[in-house]
Amino acid sequence: AACGGGDADPAAYPEDDITMVVPFSAGGPTDTVARLIAEPMAEELGADIVVQNVEGAGGTIAGGQVADADADGYEVLIHHIGMSTAPGLYPDLAYDPLEDFKTVGLVTDVPMTIVARPDFEPETLEDLVSYVEENADTVTLANAGVGAASQLCGLLIEQAVGVDLTEVPYDGTGPAMTDLMGGQVDFMCDQTTNTASQLQAGKIKGYAVTTPEPVEALPDLPTTAEAGLPDVQVGVWHGLYVPADTPDEIVEKLTAALEVALEDQNVVDQMATLGTTPVPAEDVTPEAHTAKLEEQIDLWTPIIEESGVTGG
Ligand code: MLT
Repeated sequence: AACGGGDADPAAYPEDDITMVVPFSAGGPTDTVARLIAEPMAEELGADIVVQNVEGAGGTIAGGQVADADADGYEVLIHHIGMSTAPGLYPDLAYDPLEDFKTVGLVTDVPMTIVARPDFEPETLEDLVSYVEENADTVTLANAGVGAASQLCGLLIEQAVGVDLTEVPYDGTGPAMTDLMGGQVDFMCDQTTNTASQLQAGKIKGYAVTTPEPVEALPDLPTTAEAGLPDVQVGVWHGLYVPADTPDEIVEKLTAALEVALEDQNVVDQMATLGTTPVPAEDVTPEAHTAKLEEQIDLWTPIIEESGVTGG
C-alpha cells in the first residue's frame, strides 16, 4: 500500500494508484467485471486503478490478502458469491467475511450457463442429465476450485442429478474455458460474462441459464426450471470490499465512484452484451451489500454443510 496504513489523510485520498484485487485468473468472468468498472472508477477518483489477479483456493487467497492489507483504501477486493460460500467450505478460513472487511457496494448479478465442449454428445439439458447419469464415472466437470461460483453451480447440478463427477479445478474459468473449447473437459457451469461471446460464436455448446428469467443476450437458452433442473438456480452477485479498519470517508469515495461507474453508458452496454446489468443505484451502498452478504451466508452455509464438500 502507498501511504503507511492509518497515517494517510482520508480527505486527500486517493494520492496514489489503487490496486483492485481479482481472486481468479485474468481473462475470466470476475476479471472482466473488474476491468469494466476500473476505468470509470479511476476517472471519477482521479487515480489509476491497477487490476491484480491473485489466484488460488477458490478465491480465498485473495480474500486473505486484502483482509490483511493496510486499511488505507489502496487495496480493494472485488469478489462474488464465493464470499458467502467460503465460510461453509473452509473450516480454517483465514478471514471472516463480515468482520474483516467493510463493504463498498454491490456491482452486478451475473446469470450462469451450463455449457459443454463443442462436440459433447448431449444436445439439450434433458440429454445432459441422462448422459451424466449413465456416464457418471467418465464425465468431467470443470470449475475454478472450491469456493468458485462454477464449483457451487456444479455441486447443485450433481445434487440435482444424484451423481458425484470427476471435477477438474482451474485457477479461474478463463483457463477452464480454453480447455472446454479445446475439448479437454466435458462441461461446466459458468457466468455469462465468460460464456456469452463463446456461445454466440458457436465455440461451445449451451444447455440452459440458471436464472428464473431467460437472458436477453442468449435467447436460445431455456432456464434450468424450463428445461428440467429447477433446483439449479444461481445468480452470481459481486461486491467491492476494503479492510475492516478503512476510514468511512475513504469507503464513501469508493462507493460514490462505483455508483458513477455503474451508470457509465459503456459499462451498461458492455454488460448487456455479456448477459448482465449493473445493480440498481440503491444497491450500490455498504448497507445493501452487507445485507446481501449476510443473507447469502445464511442461504448457502447449510446447503454446503449438507453436501459434505470442503476446501480443506
Ligand atoms: C472467475 O473469474 O474465474 C470466476 O468467477 C470463477 C468462478 O467463480 O467460477
